[in-house]
This record gives sequence, C-alpha cells and structure tokens, in this order.
Amino acid sequence: MKHLLSLEKLPRADFEKILRDAAVFKRERGQHTSQPLTGQTWALIFSKSSTRTRVSFEVGIRELGGESLFLSANDIQLGRGEPIKDTARVLGRMIHGAVIRTFAQSDVEEFAEFSKIPTINALTDDEHPCQVLTDIFTFEEMRGPVAGKVVTFIGDGACNMPVSWIFAAAKLGFELRIAAPKAFQPSTEILKRAGGKIIVSEDLQAAATGADMLYTDVWVSMGKEAEAAERIKVLSGYQINQKLVKLAKPGALVMHCLPAYRGKEIDTETFEANAGTIFTQAENRLHVQKAVLNWAVN
Ligand code: CP
Ligand code: NVA
Repeated sequence: MKHLLSLEKLPRADFEKILRDAAVFKRERGQHTSQPLTGQTWALIFSKSSTRTRVSFEVGIRELGGESLFLSANDIQLGRGEPIKDTARVLGRMIHGAVIRTFAQSDVEEFAEFSKIPTINALTDDEHPCQVLTDIFTFEEMRGPVAGKVVTFIGDGACNMPVSWIFAAAKLGFELRIAAPKAFQPSTEILKRAGGKIIVSEDLQAAATGADMLYTDVWVSMGKEAEAAERIKVLSGYQINQKLVKLAKPGALVMHCLPAYRGKEIDTETFEANAGTIFTQAENRLHVQKAVLNWAVN
C-alpha cells in the first residue's frame, strides 16, 4: 500500500520515478494507452479551499480512467465531529483512494492507517508534497537537474511549502536557502531530521545572491487568517521584487505555488515578468498528480 503523506517519507527512487513519469504524462496527454484507475473511484476530502489541487486531481483521475467524488469536509459528518478513523473505515470500504487537504498532518496519517487505501496529502499545515514535486519537475523541465543547484525560499519559512522543500533538498542534493524573519523560520528539529545543505537566515539579499531559483508563498497561509495583521507586519520586506531578482544568477527562475498576493510576497512587475514560468508550474500540477496517482496504484 503506497501513501504520499510527506516528502520526508518518500524514498528518493520513488521521487525520481514520479518526476520521470510526469514528463511522459505531459508529453502523451490525450494519447495514454494505459488507464491505471479504470474501475476506481477516488474521494477528494477537502477542509480548505483549493483551485489547482482540486482541479488537477479531478481531471487527472478522470484522464487515468477513474471517477472522483469531491467531499467538502463541512458537508460530510466529519465536519460535525465524526472521528477521522470512523470516516476512514467507512470510505475505505467504498472507494479506492483518497486525496486529503486538511489542517493537522496527523489527520492524513490517521486516515491512511484506518482506511487501508492509498492516501495522498493534498496539503496540511505541515507539508504540501504534491506542490514541491511539481516545482522540482518544472525546474528540471526548464533548467535540467536540480542537484547541485541553489534554491532560495523567501517569506514564511515555517509553513508547509518550505518544510516540503527542506525534505526535498536533502533527498535530491540541492542547496536550499530560506530567508525569513526569526519568528517564521523552520524549527531546528525539522532541519536536523532532514539533513542536507540548508541555510536559514534573516538576510534575503545574501540568500538570493547567485541563486538558480527564487521561490515564495503567501504570508498568510490558510488557517492563519487571525494572525494576518501581525504576519503582514513582520514579513513585510520579505518580498521577491526586481531588486532581489538582480542578485540571483542571470536567467534564474522565479516561482510561486499560487495563489499570489501582489504587493506582499511578490511585486506585480516580477510576477508578470515570470508569469510564463508560474503558470507552467500551475499546469504541471496536472501532469505530476497523474504520475503520483499512477505511482500510488502500481
Ligand atoms: N498551489 C495550490 O495548492 O493551489 P490551490 O490552493 O489552489 O490548490
Ligand atoms: N502555504 C499556503 C500554500 C497554498 C497553496 C497555505 O497553506 O495556504
């Protein structure tokens, strides 16, 4: 039984297989001969909003021959307090796989354990593995192997995106620099667990200098709305803009997982100058999701 719950637990060989297969799914879209989800119904159980993840999984499941059910957590009994492990034991008897977006990482882990069906983390407070797989796929599609390169993350360095980047860096052998205010830096416990070359500082200019990629994410992640004013105050300045891009390597990629808040984590000019990369990144969610689903059922 395969689950994609965290990049920390994804073996390197599986990571590389998903990246390789995504290229084939992209190249051969519309002409796949194998439909690995034929006869299967997958549920998407979402407790948070989503555009890219929801659509890429729904379309991906369909293109692989399966059916999908979108279950907003508030519309099922889970939202009224039915325990995860009961929901998991019910769904596990009816469906073939689950894609879950929620708050606590322990909830997706518990679902996987009790449902006994392939379970994919579609974002928790701790990790967003499908997004980072896609980001690396996109980088390699445009610039070749990420091993040995320098990726710089600017902004909320403690949220799900940088944490997934941290686990990917050690596994794939690139240098990761995280520039964030002290209060938004990743825990030393996570850094220790991941290993690899990860440099965390408050100095965004130093972090951007010579980088092959600059990456950012929202300052206020889903579920953190009550902290919005404080976050915007503390994180202001941790922005990708033209001045920062000039410090990176010539031709460096600028990426954003989206949704983007112009004037906050990225300025409008930089966003639009890099829209080609950013929307290719968004499109690639579909191809990578298909590779993840195919990996999960084989
Ligand atoms: N990047 C991402 O996961 O987008 P959604 O929240 O729209 O799914
Ligand atoms: N860190 C963001 C990612 C959105 C795709 C959030 O959790 O809201």
